[in-house]
Amino acid sequence: MNLQFLGHNAWLAGTSSLGPSLAVDPLLLDDFGFGPDRPFLVHPPRRIYRSLVERIGAVLLTHEHSDHVDLASLRMLPRETCVFMGPLMPAWIERAVCELGLRVLRLEFNTTVEVCGLFLRLYPCSPQTAFWEQRVSQFLISSTPTFLDSAFSAVDAVVSDQFLAEITAGAIPAPSAVLVSNNSSVRAGKGSALGSDSRAREWRGHKVTGVSILHELLDVFPAAIPGSPAIVLCGGGFCRRGELLQWPFACQWDLAGIATELTVKQVFGPLPGQRLCLEHRGIRLVDDDANEVSVDQPYAHVAGAPGSVSKLEEAALDSATTGLQGSDDSGLIARCERALSELETAILCSGIADYWWLMRARGIHRPFGFVCEFVRRPCRQGTRYALDMEEAKFVRVRSADADLPVCELAAFGIAVEPQSLLDLVNGRRQIWDLVGDELDSWHPDMPLESPVALLYALFGEQVRGDLASALCS
Ligand SMILES: [Fe+2]
Repeated sequence: MNLQFLGHNAWLAGTSSLGPSLAVDPLLLDDFGFGPDRPFLVHPPRRIYRSLVERIGAVLLTHEHSDHVDLASLRMLPRETCVFMGPLMPAWIERAVCELGLRVLRLEFNTTVEVCGLFLRLYPCSPQTAFWEQRVSQFLISSTPTFLDSAFSAVDAVVSDQFLAEITAGAIPAPSAVLVSNNSSVRAGKGSALGSDSRAREWRGHKVTGVSILHELLDVFPAAIPGSPAIVLCGGGFCRRGELLQWPFACQWDLAGIATELTVKQVFGPLPGQRLCLEHRGIRLVDDDANEVSVDQPYAHVAGAPGSVSKLEEAALDSATTGLQGSDDSGLIARCERALSELETAILCSGIADYWWLMRARGIHRPFGFVCEFVRRPCRQGTRYALDMEEAKFVRVRSADADLPVCELAAFGIAVEPQSLLDLVNGRRQIWDLVGDELDSWHPDMPLESPVALLYALFGEQVRGDLASALCS
């Protein structure tokens, strides 16, 4: 079996390097993202040529997120191309794919189908998965019906209990390779992928280190899977327009090189266009000639790369902002206050409020449950609104408190451009389009109770298909 890497989490799987193949989560263009501005660029920049697109015989879409479903890429395929999706894919995605003239086939979990000469089996993710990835279909793929020499991908979720149970019961062999999606984000002056920023990290004295991420990728994640599968690092293959990557864990090929020196495991980090050959003799990484996929500048988006301008200092200045005071648009202030009032109930029903009550009972009292700081770059002072827990509503922070560090006002909060918050609440932008760029946040070390997780729960495409499908159309 051949697995050709197309960038980020996109793969082309086939029995040979020439025949019709199954494209998994194909991103075939330079950019992607719901909405007309297509906010993300694929990293590293690469070109996919028509000859590769013509080999796509069928498609598997694992879940609804915009870095896995790109309608503009799917539009490049011939009408009637078969698109497989699992039982949990939202119906609006199925409708959008059908409107392109493609043929959707829903697959059940734990059932084998033959496609493009390969054998494919989908699994539900573990219930331990974060709620926004619960619709993921994980996949096992092989050139044999008994799943010898197979590859397994958990995609963005925790490894399926049902997949592990089948291996334990001897129903299928352990996979030869696991595709590990590495979306880790360790940045100077920034925080985790969930948006906890440096202020909160310093405050709680906790830091994510590269070693801990390598440990997670190489030991913790694969430990669940029997055997000694080769590890194939992918994911994290994007940045926003105009953004330089500031974190060293975005270049999976470099990371695989480091990992190979540090461990006895077989670790691959293919560049787009490179092909993994899974054979009984083992796994090989093959460089094809560049007539299907070409990568000209693998470090083009990386800060510190030759010829690039470092944005590390800019990242450290993210708190240098201004708020609404200077705004002569009273309508903007009113709209922002209205948007906050719409969030009050959700926050008060969430673990964010629970945390405030718990800390209060323990005598660790902060005046507010949540802070929203409206910032307008590049000036200094933001305008703060805070959730008064006794009044159960957002209030403007008094000037006496305005200069306190935000973490002393509330354990949770966001700093956001006013228009960005309005666009989010009104369904004109997606939360992931804003995080870490136009929206920063802080929170205690409970990632699933973060402000970004809350906003994603309220406005993400897994629950608000109406907003996402309107953005796509
Ligand atoms: Fe996802």
